[in-house]
Amino acid sequence: MAEHSSLIRVEHVDRVYDDGAVTALRDINLIIRPNECAAIVGKSGSGKSSLIHIMSGCDAPTAGTVYWHDESIWRQEDWRRLRATRIGIVFQEFHLLPALTAAENVELALMGHCISAADRARRASSLLERVGLSDRARHLPTELSGGERQRVAIARSIANDPELILADEPTGNLDSANADAVVELLLNIRRDRGAALILVTHDESLAARCDWRIRLKDGAIETEQEEEATEKEEKAPAGKLRPARGTPSPARRARKRKK
Ligand SMILES: Nc1ncnc2c1ncn2[C@@H]1O[C@H](COP(=O)(O)OP(=O)(O)OP(=O)(O)O)[C@@H](O)[C@H]1O
Ligand SMILES: [Mg+2]
Repeated sequence: MAEHSSLIRVEHVDRVYDDGAVTALRDINLIIRPNECAAIVGKSGSGKSSLIHIMSGCDAPTAGTVYWHDESIWRQEDWRRLRATRIGIVFQEFHLLPALTAAENVELALMGHCISAADRARRASSLLERVGLSDRARHLPTELSGGERQRVAIARSIANDPELILADEPTGNLDSANADAVVELLLNIRRDRGAALILVTHDESLAARCDWRIRLKDGAIETEQEEEATEKEEKAPAGKLRPARGTPSPARRARKRKK
């Protein structure tokens, strides 16, 4: 795969609801490349979740196309396969199954892969260790704190070793200390595994920890800005943005290409 190829590309995507009464997304053009980390910000109702749903194939655009590694994806079957093997998703409300333990919730993501029950259990255990929850593996979600539940959900989202992690307000139900820890974990996982990460957040200081920031307004991309630096130790104070570099950001490149 060429270094500059896109991982996921959204081209001229619209999403309208209620027979056109609501326009959630309008002419969205976006390129996410392998290993990139982008934050999506914007007011409530600006279209962030709608965009994540379309980039995960959980919803289909009204118009426009989504490409995975430059191949257009239309069929639900193809999207299901991608979600099972290439895309990990983290939700605000965790979406853990309440009757299953932390380990079983993670193991569930490995069902359908050709691995034995013993290997599944071993893998779930190592994933829970990765998110710092080895000692909570046998606990039910109700016996875990919000931050711990989200860490289980993150372990589940990376069980398939995804190339892309989509996180829709993963810190929305957490206090600021837990929110910080969860974003730190996502960024570390993304760096260690070489995955791309798209993080939806209302928190500008969390968004500033990503490589670039896409701001949605009324369903359209209002701005996209690259951050100071990707590595924390190199970074200027959180939240500080600079004007776009000479090299256009991926979204800008996408738009230029269309002109
Ligand atoms: N299933 C639906 N039917 C009708 N309208 C919808 C539906 N889903 C979303 N919308 C509308 O689309 C717009 C964008 O919604 P979306 O959930 O994408 O916003 P958001 O930026 O994620 O907001 P929030 O920050 O509150 O999560 C809103 O006006 C919303 O009311
Ligand atoms: Mg939302």
